[in-house]
Amino acid sequence: MTIGDRTPKVGPMQPDITAIKEKFLHIFGPDSGGGPVGKKVRVIRAPGRVNLIGEHTDYNDGFVFPMAIEPEVRLVCRARGDGMVRLGSTVYPHELVEFSLQKKIERGSPSWGNYSRGVAAQLIAGGIPLVGMDALVANTLPVGGGLSSSAAVEVATGLGLLTLAGGKLDTTRLALLCQKAEHEYAGVPCGIMDQTIVASGRAEHAMLLDCRDSSKTFVKLNPQELRVVIVNSMVRHELSGGEYAQRRHQCGEGVAVFRETDPHVKALRDVNLEQVQAAKQRLSDLVFRRCRHVVGENQRTVEAAKTLAAQRYERVGDLMVQSHESLRDDYEVSCPELDYLVDESMKVKGVYGARMTGGGFGGCIVALVQPRAVDALTQHLHKNYTAKFGLQPNVFVTTATAGASVVE
Ligand code: GLA
Repeated sequence: MTIGDRTPKVGPMQPDITAIKEKFLHIFGPDSGGGPVGKKVRVIRAPGRVNLIGEHTDYNDGFVFPMAIEPEVRLVCRARGDGMVRLGSTVYPHELVEFSLQKKIERGSPSWGNYSRGVAAQLIAGGIPLVGMDALVANTLPVGGGLSSSAAVEVATGLGLLTLAGGKLDTTRLALLCQKAEHEYAGVPCGIMDQTIVASGRAEHAMLLDCRDSSKTFVKLNPQELRVVIVNSMVRHELSGGEYAQRRHQCGEGVAVFRETDPHVKALRDVNLEQVQAAKQRLSDLVFRRCRHVVGENQRTVEAAKTLAAQRYERVGDLMVQSHESLRDDYEVSCPELDYLVDESMKVKGVYGARMTGGGFGGCIVALVQPRAVDALTQHLHKNYTAKFGLQPNVFVTTATAGASVVE
């Protein structure tokens, strides 16, 4: 949280860990069952993420530019000796997820447990020895808010299971296992952005991630000059409902057409805008526009990382707005609420740029602003958005935080 910033924060950024530990003991008792394993209660944190630019490029082998944020997931956990996993959640207080590491782990209900079931299954499939776990998940990330609460739950579960078993895993590999868990257990064919930034973020930095080879370039955000503001539209974002998978499929259709003339094209990453224009007649209008978005977005993302490092904030802001327009018109993943928030943000003096962030169809926008513009932006959006849509937006400032870690 930015010190000296008078913007009201809606809700705490970190869960109250003393209260969560008490709740953990209340649910699971003073001693986890199943034999002589450590009694120590461990605390893991995994942040959410916001993507500054580079949307719907990760599953096209392209570039993304996210940072880890202050709202987070905390997992309070303790080992069990009988190979059972039991999970509670502060978001779903009356439900307990239970499964055994010694049997085939199936998807099941309650469905929020599928992220953790999936991660445990992937760790086992990766040959990593695990012990059972009692765990309580606490969350200050809005569920369905497009700030990667699911990736944070996955990475926290993975790190919790590894910590209790005394194991370690490279964060890039952990992210890949969590992505696979999301594909197979949550049914969302996501890219690699969310899990990577949640696992490997760096405090005070945004991360330019090359999703083809997982290479990472960190760019420092200067807190004297910049604030990152997130505005939750309060329209719930839902990725499992088909649209996301459809976009992936349409990108694949584009790749197939480019491959007819150039077999070296493996993904839209390998195509430039001239090639997209040249192929216009051979692509349907829809696939043409999808490809134009992805290819243009890759260029914008690489340029944004460079210009941010050079502190050319106006240019970064322009690129963010172009990104939003392309997501709205070519990729068609925005919605009226997000469009309105971006348009209204851009009317406020001192706002460099704004755009929808994450998968789309609701969720959040992100704005890059001068520190002194934060109050005016907050007030402007509260007043106008509420009047137009009858919803209170959640506006908050966040610094870039480190990726997931073991706290205790
Ligand atoms: C979701 C997915 C990511 C990415 C974004 C869009 O957040 O989980 O992998 O594709 O949408 O950029």
